[in-house]
Parts: sequence; structure tokens; C-alpha cells
Amino acid sequence: MLKNKKVIVGVSGSIAAYKSALLIRLLIKAGANVQVIMTEAATGFITPLTLSTLSKNPVLIDFTKNKEGEWNNHVELGLWADAFVIAPASANTLAKMANGICDNLLLATYLSARCKVYVAPAMDLDMYRHQATLDNLKRLQSFGNGIIQPGNGELASGLYGEGRMAEPEEIIAFLEKEFSKGLPLAGKKALVTAGPTYEAIDPVRFIGNHSSGKMGFAIAEELAARGAEVTLVCGPNSLSLGNKSIKRIDITSAEELYNASTAAFKTADIAVLSAAVADYKPAVTAKQKIKKTEGSRSIELTPTRDTLAELGKMKKAKQLLVGFALETNNETENAKSKIKKKNLDLIVLNSLNDKGAGFKSETNKITIIDSNNKSIKFELKSKAEVAKDIVDVITKRLKK
Ligand code: CTP
Repeated sequence: MLKNKKVIVGVSGSIAAYKSALLIRLLIKAGANVQVIMTEAATGFITPLTLSTLSKNPVLIDFTKNKEGEWNNHVELGLWADAFVIAPASANTLAKMANGICDNLLLATYLSARCKVYVAPAMDLDMYRHQATLDNLKRLQSFGNGIIQPGNGELASGLYGEGRMAEPEEIIAFLEKEFSKGLPLAGKKALVTAGPTYEAIDPVRFIGNHSSGKMGFAIAEELAARGAEVTLVCGPNSLSLGNKSIKRIDITSAEELYNASTAAFKTADIAVLSAAVADYKPAVTAKQKIKKTEGSRSIELTPTRDTLAELGKMKKAKQLLVGFALETNNETENAKSKIKKKNLDLIVLNSLNDKGAGFKSETNKITIIDSNNKSIKFELKSKAEVAKDIVDVITKRLKK
């Protein structure tokens, strides 16, 4: 969402300026182009050298670049940016912004900016609660600026309460959500399951499978890139998410996957269940490590709860439910019968007979079948491309 976006980070004089270093790093990592503007007061809290190194751009502080008077053009800056985020926004900077005061480069750029401006207030509890600050924030909001609410917690003064600047990760998630407005899936909530489940035999052993989680992660990223608010319930994996707005819930067992998914489904518009869930678990999990004994031994298994089937029962008219089927034989017939059995809208079929499809590979070859038995076959593609195809079909279905 933030890739190639042009973002001005305004840093004003607050101890929370140290957090702007991490914010800038996260923006750069997300692919944004960052220009930092600091107030003179901010340079007492963090050095311009730190922020210019992290942002890969010289930091701007004054109206002029040098003694010769080369201008730092605030009008151009204001036109260049896709977003202007002032973090931290001190009580003083907020007050000046609310009253159109323009005595530094940051404020001049604010007045010139045509893009949306966001402020992340940072100050002590009593300053934040002061009627003057609250009025200024209201006024700024009435001008169309976005407020990134501060958190509650320990403040630099030692007091405890509201006024602590939102964490950099929260600011990134906020911005990602803002940039998603207007996208095809904006306002939609999606649940995705991914990865394997591990069913414990004893404290050191489990029954699992080879699922890497890559397909589900790619679907979650694609849904989020199109504006959906995504919850990803995932089993053990080594993957990380690019889009920070995705809510990730790590689970281990089929039971945990069931609990997290049924809870998230209540408010979801879309659910894509790509996790490779164990169908059985040991009837008893030994509390101690099972010791080796002579001869063979067996483990009694009991069925796990089928999350997809349960969501099929819970499903309301406007919810779209997508299942996966990984088959080795009678592929199409098996997939079609799962649509009926689990009350699905769509099923994504992949066959282990197709080279390059399935668990461990970077690619996948799928067929999407709908509840009217209409099917679309796709070529072998990277999992990111496959995710695009799946989300294309979902997006079209939601428009109907
Ligand atoms: N699934 C689930 N919970 C389970 C088992 C499966 O949510 N306990 C979901 C998977 O995420 C997938 C779909 O059900 O979307 C199909 O899983 P699969 O194991 O292929 O189907 P089963 O109904 O278990 O049938 P079988 O194993 O006999 O093919």
C-alpha cells in the first residue's frame, strides 16, 4: 500500500522524536519515498544526520538550504507529497497549525500541502487533556486533517496516562488503511487461514504436514493490497508479512485455528481457508515425553473440528466462503462434493498430480469451481500471481 508513495514526515520538538527514526525506517522498508522536515526544536531530541541516513534524503529544517539563500521550496514539497504525517506533533506545533501560524518550514509546508495531513500528537498527560489542545485538535480535524490517536501508558515525565505518541507500527497501519480507501475491497473484512497445524503427541512431538503457508500469505497480502481489512490465522511458519495492516493471529493446533477463525468470521465479508488443517489429533496428549519401549506402538486419533464446514453452517447471505481442496485423485469430483458438503461459494482445487503445484513449491496450478459447478482453469504461476487470480474471482463475485 505504501510502495512508491511520497510521504513527508514532519518531526516537531517532543521526546517522542526518537520514535520517528523507526517510523521512517518502516516507511522506507514498505517502499515509500520519504522526505523529512524537522523543526529547530526537534533537532534537540534527535539528530538530522540520523533521520537523513534512514530516509535516504537530506533533512530539511530551514527555509533556505545554505548561506547563499538557496530556497527549500515548501510549495513544491506540498505538491510533491501523497501524504504528510507529523509525528511527533507537539502541543506547540498543533496550536500553530490550528491557527495558521507559519514561522518554520514544517508549518509553511503544512499550509501549502494539497495532500492529506495526519498528526500523531505526543505530549504529557495534562498538556494533552488541556482544553486548548483538545480544541486545537478538533479544529485541525475540522480542516480535514487526520488525527492518529495517542496511546495510554507511561510518559517521559513519569506520569501515566494519555499523550504517548502512537507506536510507529500503529502509524504505518493507520497510513496503510488510509491509502486503501477507494480501492475495490475497501470497507470489506476478510479472514484467511494459512499454513499447517501441529497436533501435539507429547511435549516434544506432533502430527503435522508440509504446508509452508505461502499460498495463504500471498492471498492475505493480495486482499489487503485491494483494500480489505485482513485477519490472517496462521499455523507454524517462517514467513513475514509485508503489509503491516494485516492482523496476524498465530495458532498451533486445529482447535486454536477453529476458535480464532469462527470468532473472526462473525464480522467477515470474505473468508478464504487455505490452511492445511490436520483432520485428526492424538486422542490424548501425553504430559511427559513418551519413552521408547520394545516393539511397535500406536497412537489413537480422534477427529479435529472442521473449521471450513463450521463456517459453512454459520454463513450468512452476504458472506463469501472459499475453501481449498488438495487432491491426488478424482480431483474435480472431490472438490465439487466439498462445495456442497461444506456450503461453499468457491473452491480452489490443486492437484498433487500437477508438477509445480502444492505445498512446498513457489508455484501453484489451480482450478476455481463455484457452487454452480462452473470452473475456471489457470496455468502454472507463482503463488503471488495465483493469489491475484483468486482475489480477482472474489472481487467479481462481490460486485454481483
Ligand atoms: N479444513 C478446515 N478444518 C479442518 C480440515 C479442513 O478448515 N479441520 C479446510 C481446509 O482449510 C480447506 C478445506 O477444508 O479449505 C479442505 O480440506 P481437505 O482436508 O482437503 O478436506 P476434507 O474435508 O478434510 O477432506 P479430505 O481430507 O478427506 O479430502
